[in-house]
Amino acid sequence: MDNLAKEIEDLKRERNAVLLAHYYVDDAVQAIADYVGDSYYLAKVALNESKDVICFAGVSFMGESAKILNPDRTVIMPDQLADCPMAHMVDLDKIRKVREEYDDLAVVCYINSTAEIKSYSDVCVTSSNAMKIVKALPQKNIFFIPDENLGRYIGSKIPEKNFIYNDGFCHVHTSITADNVKKAKEAHPDAEILVHPECTMDVVELADYVGSTSGIIDYATASDADKFIICTEMGVLYELKQKNPNKTFYSVGHRQFCPNMKRITLENVRDTLRDMKNQVELDETLRLDAKKALDKMLRIAQ
Ligand code: 13P
Ligand code: SF4
Repeated sequence: MDNLAKEIEDLKRERNAVLLAHYYVDDAVQAIADYVGDSYYLAKVALNESKDVICFAGVSFMGESAKILNPDRTVIMPDQLADCPMAHMVDLDKIRKVREEYDDLAVVCYINSTAEIKSYSDVCVTSSNAMKIVKALPQKNIFFIPDENLGRYIGSKIPEKNFIYNDGFCHVHTSITADNVKKAKEAHPDAEILVHPECTMDVVELADYVGSTSGIIDYATASDADKFIICTEMGVLYELKQKNPNKTFYSVGHRQFCPNMKRITLENVRDTLRDMKNQVELDETLRLDAKKALDKMLRIAQ
């Protein structure tokens, strides 16, 4: 273990802290985290965490969700500027307007959203549980926010519901084009194409498998194939290679890189634990309102 990793281990003990990391953060951070996973898994870990401090190696909405679910813990973020742009991409007035338009409506909010947006929503979803949750809702009309692409993918699988879409998007996943994917397939014809549903529908349509980061890792690990074209942020390569050292993974271009996730480094994890800075604070009324949507997700998804 190098010095920095050792310092972090010592600080974790001293602070009675746990380190959670998303699959998109740097390999070195994933390597020393106590838990690494997709958004759904990490929300469940945060909910049940008994250590005093949760250090969240991820973007703002992840730390906020941890604090909403487990307010008695101190939640700290290694870099306060690590924020997901899509988490802000819905206008609250638009939610009010759609609510006025439809009686039988559920506002379904991707977990990649601010606490305020969650507080205006009926239920949260992640990419790994959205299908199950939307199917279970009694409402016919589904306003899916903020991500249009995940919404359209889920909508295509549940034709009995009427979906209303919002125009939010992830700039990392939408930079993956169908053309890039087709070229990668031409270069590696026996590779399977694994796609995150934040990609656009023309990319999703080329996929052998569509799922969350954990879903992609599990699929590749279980598959008999030994070559894969990866259509998501390339941070997943760390776990893919750990679990599948003899399989080969190809990217589809040079932009599969989330600059916000990559703000998290061993240095800022160490500094945050040492100084106990960047604590997530939420207004209690807002927290309780946002919690309803997360609680409902956890209830239906289990
Ligand atoms: P999942 O890990 O839940 O698939 O989410 C992807 C993502 O973009 C997180 O920001
Ligand atoms: Fe947000 Fe996209 Fe980065 Fe995920 S990969 S945190 S959705 S910008």
